[in-house]
Amino acid sequence: MASAALLSLTLTDFRSYERARLETGGRSVYLFGANGAGKTNLLEAISLLTPGKGLRGASLTEVGRRLPGEAVGRPWAVAAEAEADDEAPIRIGTGVEQGGAARRIVRIEGETVPPGRLADHVRPIWLTPAQDRLFLEAASERRRFFDRLVFAGEPAHAANANAYDKAQRERMKLLTEAFERGASPDATWLNALEARLAEAGALLAEARARTLRALQAEIDGRGDRPFPQARLTLTGDWEKMALEGVAFAEIEARLAAALAAARPRDGAAGRALTGPHRGDLAIFHVEKDRPAAECSTGEQKALILNLVLAQAARLSRAEAAPNPVILLDEVAAHLDLTRRAALADELTALKLQAFLTGTDESLFDHLKGRALGVRVSDAGLTPVSA
Ligand SMILES: Nc1ncnc2c1ncn2[C@@H]1O[C@H](COP(=O)(O)OP(=O)(O)OP(=O)(O)O)[C@@H](O)[C@H]1O
Ligand SMILES: [Mg+2]
Repeated sequence: MASAALLSLTLTDFRSYERARLETGGRSVYLFGANGAGKTNLLEAISLLTPGKGLRGASLTEVGRRLPGEAVGRPWAVAAEAEADDEAPIRIGTGVEQGGAARRIVRIEGETVPPGRLADHVRPIWLTPAQDRLFLEAASERRRFFDRLVFAGEPAHAANANAYDKAQRERMKLLTEAFERGASPDATWLNALEARLAEAGALLAEARARTLRALQAEIDGRGDRPFPQARLTLTGDWEKMALEGVAFAEIEARLAAALAAARPRDGAAGRALTGPHRGDLAIFHVEKDRPAAECSTGEQKALILNLVLAQAARLSRAEAAPNPVILLDEVAAHLDLTRRAALADELTALKLQAFLTGTDESLFDHLKGRALGVRVSDAGLTPVSA
């Protein structure tokens, strides 16, 4: 399994689209049109073909089409056909059947399946304008960004993160209640929760460390390119241990011990002060010899873009997994001409399907003949080049 390009996409009552269909022939696509035309909405629809809340982190009720004044969105659907090597395309769909539904349904070949199964067929990874602020934001944003990259390579990462969050919520409930009552919490129950946390936490830290190492090797190995070289580090205690090669069982045991020791402090603070949920990612611009936060907006964009492309390149070599589909929202507009040309060359060389957006068709001159151009307007999606 390697190819996983989207051959077609059909949106029904999704955001601004009443109904729209796009046939790509498996090619990359650049979408252009005025502000508010629906370009990002289309990328968002694709980003929902992976578990989670998509590239805007939106709630399910937000994405259903709403007329002005309507409080609840309509039932909506995103359907796609994904290329599968030498076989008939796989039909994938997601959506809600009722306006206020709490969960979305995922179907593969007409059968309802858990959202995690999407990762068997499509792997969207994205870069959006919201990530321009990545280096100015709190650590949680960088963690989320990096965890997405980890997840794209190791789908089990999401399950570990969920297990960790769930156990942490239960632990904090026990601790804060005990703190408020001035009593001691149920030690047996706490021990069990902390054992779960330590295991899931050590798995998270190791997965992040693995991805970081592989990404750094990929970036270093790709050498001289028009995109700035990045040096990456994970600054969280647990990730650092994993990077230093501390054994899994040792990280797990130390995390369990740290959690047990932190009980009174966490209970009083009302939040957990140690663990991989506090980890952070630091990015350094090698040529400039500066942390990314001190680089220009365009340089930061190019740094993050390089990271996303490196991850895409890595994943495209994984035989057992579908190729990533790259979603680049408004990326071209930030790049100078040299880098725009380089991006087009790189996407072509990667042989991966990408969806790019921009307001002007001319931003994609370098992709002409190499990707499908689509005009986005009130009238819908109109292909302009073959
Ligand atoms: N649930 C919804 N129902 C109907 N319309 C919606 C809904 N959510 C968003 N919209 C509309 O979608 C439009 C925005 O689309 P989108 O963000 O895709 O634009 P864009 O083409 O990316 O524009 P820009 O160039 O400014 O980024 C807005 O006009 C917004 O009002
Ligand atoms: Mg947009």
